[in-house]
Amino acid sequence: MKTIAIGAQGGLEHLQIKEQKDPQPAAGEVLVRWHATSLNYHDYLVGVGGIPVPEGRVPMSDGAGEVTAVGEDVTAWKVGDKVMSLFFPNWLDGRPTPGKTTAISGETVDGFLTEMSCVSAHSLTHIPAGFSYAEAATLPCAALTAWRALVVEGQLKMGDKVLIEGTGGMSIFALQLALTAGAEVYATTSSPEKAERLKSMGVKEVVNYREDECWGRAIYKLSGGGVDHVLDVGGGSTMQQSIEAAAMGGHIASIGILGNGRKGEITFPKLFFKHLRMTGLAVGSRSMQEDMIRAIELSNWRPVIDSSFGFTELADAFRYQESGAHFGKIVLEY
Ligand SMILES: NC(=O)c1ccc[n+]([C@@H]2O[C@H](COP(=O)([O-])OP(=O)(O)OC[C@H]3O[C@@H](n4cnc5c(N)ncnc54)[C@H](OP(=O)(O)O)[C@@H]3O)[C@@H](O)[C@H]2O)c1
Repeated sequence: MKTIAIGAQGGLEHLQIKEQKDPQPAAGEVLVRWHATSLNYHDYLVGVGGIPVPEGRVPMSDGAGEVTAVGEDVTAWKVGDKVMSLFFPNWLDGRPTPGKTTAISGETVDGFLTEMSCVSAHSLTHIPAGFSYAEAATLPCAALTAWRALVVEGQLKMGDKVLIEGTGGMSIFALQLALTAGAEVYATTSSPEKAERLKSMGVKEVVNYREDECWGRAIYKLSGGGVDHVLDVGGGSTMQQSIEAAAMGGHIASIGILGNGRKGEITFPKLFFKHLRMTGLAVGSRSMQEDMIRAIELSNWRPVIDSSFGFTELADAFRYQESGAHFGKIVLEY
């Protein structure tokens, strides 16, 4: 079987293709033939060496595939089951703890850009009924983050107003989940063409964050007094505007650091005089993933897949992601 591994020097030009013997599942493990993964910004950082990992680490936190063998004592899965991975393979339920979140797929433990691997039987969920492997592989990181921001932490209600920022994978899932739940969605983007596409999907108003640096204020006005939920993807580069966009008593999920936003300044009185709640969040648990899958199975939308690459084309796929031309998810199928 073939595996892609991060090279000793890290970086896209040093990715390695390895030929290895097919693994055998130990007790408590299942062998999965992986068929698809999808690109997240976290994977990109691992790929380009922005998050250092040991030589030989298999990248990519998302995987979808089929169970091809089960180890002793495994009762939860059988050969032929279609499964998908967990971002945190040991966070099954309850509050996050250091112990549950130390293992991160594709970073601190091997990910899923491999034809086969053995994983703990507890580190998988079913894929949504009727989904292709490529569609399922878009869900464990990006969709679950949007689900947690809106549904778990945000307690989204019908009629709420939601702001998504940009048109990357996580934001487009937030758009689809919010519309499914009966919310009104506002968006920012840097592209007029993408703004049109957002509107055709049901977004009420779109503001170009490159043309209007006070886009938070613009969203506040367009939404008639602010939005109830903001999914902030830029941290230091967007948080002040996210606070401006929020309605009094609203919720902001701090999700990303796009636009060099690792650090930044915010006006604290705005935060407390608007009675805002802010949640820092990293993906979610297996039980959240199971809840999300149930909800997706009852809805009638599919993940928006912008483009698909082959097993050995990770570097090309990351360069495409880097260009920012995509809308929704980029996948690799194998
Ligand atoms: N905390 C978590 O658990 C978690 C999970 C998933 C993702 N994230 C984070 O969420 C962010 C998005 O992730 P992703 O995988 O969806 O990325 P992605 O697919 O690569 O999305 C990138 C898109 O974001 C938009 N963007 C770029 N810079 C921006 C800026 N300064 N302000 C507003 N929008 C900007 C652009 O949209 P336009 O082309 O429309 O302008 C770009 O196409 C990343 O920071 C990622 O690390 C965090």
